[in-house]
Amino acid sequence: MSCGPPIGETRPVVAARPGTRVFAGTVVGDVMDVVTTIADLRAALAPARARGAAVGFVPTMGYLHDGHLTLARWARRDAEVAVASIFVNPTQFGPDEDFSTYPRDLERDRALLADVGIDLLFAPSVEEMYPTPLRTFVEVPHLSSILLGAMRPGHFRGVATVVAKLFGIVQPSRAYFGEKDYQQVMVIRRMVQDLSLPVEIVPVPTVRDADGLALSSRNVYLTADQRRAALRLNQALAEAKTAVERGITNPAALEDHVSRFIAEEPLAKIDLVAVRDADTLADPGDQLPDRILVQLFVRFGRAQLLDHIVIPRPDGGGR
Ligand code: PAJ
Repeated sequence: MSCGPPIGETRPVVAARPGTRVFAGTVVGDVMDVVTTIADLRAALAPARARGAAVGFVPTMGYLHDGHLTLARWARRDAEVAVASIFVNPTQFGPDEDFSTYPRDLERDRALLADVGIDLLFAPSVEEMYPTPLRTFVEVPHLSSILLGAMRPGHFRGVATVVAKLFGIVQPSRAYFGEKDYQQVMVIRRMVQDLSLPVEIVPVPTVRDADGLALSSRNVYLTADQRRAALRLNQALAEAKTAVERGITNPAALEDHVSRFIAEEPLAKIDLVAVRDADTLADPGDQLPDRILVQLFVRFGRAQLLDHIVIPRPDGGGR
């Protein structure tokens, strides 16, 4: 996907940081600080900021898997100081959504991030982040109200607001987001552009299990049968690509083709299959755009799973 600058242009870490031990060229026994208050986070980062160090930042809601850890590894590789946050943000959950049951395991997450070499973990409480009811929100109209935003009203307002707040707290030079949440990357990029925030958004390709299922914290909700059935998503995206390559040209026909393929799996409940312009999320009308986004929202049991593919139009759109 080319939703941003090329990703390979990152600097390797060449020197060990203070607080690390190097054994036979490998950094071992890394020391990671955990802070829970904004004041402590700022104090911990002050020396790095004073010497002008680049800060890489990975915001998460925890219950980490290899997708999150890949973002953390990129930040580690890229930046002098790598910071991660774990905060299950209530304002991006609707009243009937899974905020209270969202999986949490701070101790395990802490160990995983330390292992990757993250320098600092920010794990604030809800009271620390929202001591008084919020009166200021970041809205990214349109991009926030379509697709997932239409299914989860207020979700992207919560995401944009908490990410803006986290950027204000951490003040990273780069922040890493998974392409798995394609619309989220678009919303954050637009917010950064519109508000001239001095942070570069780095999109990281979706990390999958060996069998193709995109990693997600919500995969823990799946039974063994649902987990097997969910493989249909990645297969449906391959099917979409084949259909485009074989010459399908009508977006509605492509949506229909993919929907039928998914519906053959009895455990799959389709919320939305959408073919969009990958650069704008606009409905393409009756002609496929140059870069075709096929976005899937499908429920298996109580878990809504997201997956997508970006397919270049074979004829390059005639441009
Ligand atoms: P969360 O769902 O914990 O995801 C944190 C980051 O990990 C996001 O940027 C997400 O896109 C990325 N990620 C998740 N699964 C991935 C996968 N399989 N491959 C690559 N990256 C993956 O997204 C959020 O939290 C929140 O909305 C947040 C941005 C932290 C704001 O609260």
